[in-house]
Amino acid sequence: MLCCACSGPRSAATLQINPYEYTIQKKIIGSNGAVTSAHPLASETGVSIMKQGGNAIDAAIATQLALAVVYPGAGNIGGGGFTVMRLSNGTNITIDYREKAPARAHRDMYLDKQGNAQTALSQNGHLAAGVPGTVAGLFGCMKYAKLPFTKLIQPAIDLAENGFVITESEAHDLNRTRDAFIKYNTVTPVFVKAGGWKAGDTLVQKDLANTLKRIRDKGMAGFYEGETARLIVEEMKRANGIINYDDLKNYQAKEREPVVFDYKSYKIITMPLPSSGGVLLPQMMQMIEDQPVKAYGFLSARAVQLMTEIERRAYADRAKFLGDLDFYKVPVKKLTSKAYAVERMKDYNDQTAGSSETTGAGLIPESEETTHFSVYDKSGNAVSVTTTLNGGYGSRTVVGGAGFLLNNEMDDFSIKPGVPNMYGAVGADANAIAPGKRMLSSMTPTIVLKDNKPFLVVGTPGGTTITTSVFQTLINILEFDMSTEDAVNKPKFHHQWLPDEIFVEAAFPQPVREQLRQMGYKVTQRGAIGRTEVIRIDANGTIEAVADKRGDDSAAGY
Ligand code: DON
Repeated sequence: MLCCACSGPRSAATLQINPYEYTIQKKIIGSNGAVTSAHPLASETGVSIMKQGGNAIDAAIATQLALAVVYPGAGNIGGGGFTVMRLSNGTNITIDYREKAPARAHRDMYLDKQGNAQTALSQNGHLAAGVPGTVAGLFGCMKYAKLPFTKLIQPAIDLAENGFVITESEAHDLNRTRDAFIKYNTVTPVFVKAGGWKAGDTLVQKDLANTLKRIRDKGMAGFYEGETARLIVEEMKRANGIINYDDLKNYQAKEREPVVFDYKSYKIITMPLPSSGGVLLPQMMQMIEDQPVKAYGFLSARAVQLMTEIERRAYADRAKFLGDLDFYKVPVKKLTSKAYAVERMKDYNDQTAGSSETTGAGLIPESEETTHFSVYDKSGNAVSVTTTLNGGYGSRTVVGGAGFLLNNEMDDFSIKPGVPNMYGAVGADANAIAPGKRMLSSMTPTIVLKDNKPFLVVGTPGGTTITTSVFQTLINILEFDMSTEDAVNKPKFHHQWLPDEIFVEAAFPQPVREQLRQMGYKVTQRGAIGRTEVIRIDANGTIEAVADKRGDDSAAGY
């Protein structure tokens, strides 16, 4: 599908891709390398880096930087994320560059004098922003890369400086957010256009290009110190923001011990806390491992009921126990043990709906816009990255003169026990705000090994639905033997303990909804669940990359 008409200049010197005319590809088959991401220009950027001798890590860095330009709703340098890698030498690495609460943040910062939660402040504008981690995360990846950073960032600089043609959905999203861009900014950002945006318009981001050049020339200091830091702090001062110079200078990405667990003959590698996925995915996979889900069949009422009850149990634990391990003692070992999974399923009844009132967290002695991309190279490096500003365009606040959006990630903390965040998730002490603490996340970038070699590179955006979407995608492939496209595109569903209902996509079959209702479930239709990007590598080395049909997502490879 040709998605964009040609317009604007064509001389993007260092680009091997054409930002004024490009194609969305939902599936590619290659033998050398592939990228699947939320935007064709980002996927093509990653592949062009591999063609120039880069490995999957180089490609992931370049793809992430390109997304910060061509996919401003979620691609970012003002947010954070997680990267999970399986290197060709068999080493597993995870990098945590989740945002942190600024030093001046405190537990009750979003409560008014009566103690009421002010979600308007945790979700919008300057005060909603955590200290950005993405740039530190990119430099954390550099030690596994082959090419110089200057080469990896140049395509993003060119895309920002010369512009690129926007798609219809980008035009729609920018227009829909126009009022918020005006309300939450002290300097009108380039995202506001007189008369509105339409498909085929060119988006040029000169301030962002200059920020990227400072990062190219000065490394991490080009973001966390000097001119960019000054622009961030000045922006904070013009409104109610609290991020200061020390917050920026002190920010560090962390390499964390990956979560690795067995599912039947497969090995699954995923992100540990502050990703809740590192607890919930092993829990859910171990709860389903001994159940005859395959015999029940895909989207049969019995399979959906089983998976719903598993999701309910896992999310109840999320609300009570999960938060930043650097600040809160989370009983991870116990929560992710097979014995605990078996124990949690003891009261599972396959005839009727369970209840979130009676199913609390397990008893333990002693508590929407993101983007995912998957990368693989033929030497066997696999990279799974989920990164976010939290909501679409984050806080909607652009750093004046620096051209990038700030996240609204503070809302991922539990701002008051029991008060739902923008994804309806509740939390407690474990995820309360504290200075320097990382807010709990659902982002679950994951790699599956078969015979000890990368088999699947998987992940998705979608707030709290992320972990259930990854869970369902894995079950679709590992149990229901689905094609990659079906595993990605078939209807998904979601249960997160509270609210006690099953959310389903529009294409979820009506008769199954009825059967579930008869069992006592509340079934509610909602919008799309996730935008899952999967790379599958066959035993003979064939690389298949699939991009979710739910957006402009596009795969590239060779
Ligand atoms: O880290 C998290 O869990 C959220 N900030 C993710 C937000 C998200 O996926 C929105 N996307 N649709």
